[in-house]
Amino acid sequence: MTDHVGDYVSRVFAAEDEILLSLREEADRTGLPPISISADTGRLLQVLLLAVGARRVLEVGTLGGYSAIWIARALPADGSLISLELETKHAEFATRYVRRAGLAEKVEIRVGRALDLLASLDGEQFDAIFLDADKEPLPTYFEWGLRLVRRGGLIIADNALWGGRVVDERVDDDATRGVREMNRRMATDPRVAGILVPTHDGVAIGVVL
Ligand SMILES: C[S@@+](CC[C@H](N)C(=O)[O-])C[C@H]1O[C@@H](n2cnc3c(N)ncnc32)[C@H](O)[C@@H]1O
Repeated sequence: MTDHVGDYVSRVFAAEDEILLSLREEADRTGLPPISISADTGRLLQVLLLAVGARRVLEVGTLGGYSAIWIARALPADGSLISLELETKHAEFATRYVRRAGLAEKVEIRVGRALDLLASLDGEQFDAIFLDADKEPLPTYFEWGLRLVRRGGLIIADNALWGGRVVDERVDDDATRGVREMNRRMATDPRVAGILVPTHDGVAIGVVL
């Protein structure tokens, strides 16, 4: 989608409040990488989570907590989000903003390598998992999604178009291969019904069957 159209969708459907605006401004000023989800993707996540009645959500890749705030705001009072993050600096930033948003009771940020933290969650059940960290292990994260998400729940992944690299045959790096393979599984694995929504950088969505 062009920036122009994306801006329109965000403006009409996904207005940011003072906390989200302040988070983005401070993240830019303090040098956090500018790779949070877009506001329209935040709203898309909320609509999807509300549609499946999500109470318990798992996120892989917290960064500054921007997506965590969108997600947690779509959960009921007794809902919860566990968000996994490698970098302590990112987790501390996110913790501060989650608190400012009044969501500290709902959001738990765990610091470590996602693959280790996912293994420690084996046996638990979630209504949805949101994949937004490193791209090379996406096929493995997808398999964890199938293991941890209940039937009828969602596996969602941002950057499914990966800046257009998924369709550029000259690109064959590990990250791009990871995104392509996850997309292939979302599209063909009989354990999910999947689609790639070409909003912003692409959001892949699979319903666990
Ligand atoms: C795209 S950002 C997440 C953006 C966030 N979901 C948002 O929209 O606000 C990716 C995050 O994943 C983290 N990350 C990268 N590799 C990771 C890994 N192996 N385990 C856990 N976190 C990882 C990075 O440190 C970074 O903060």
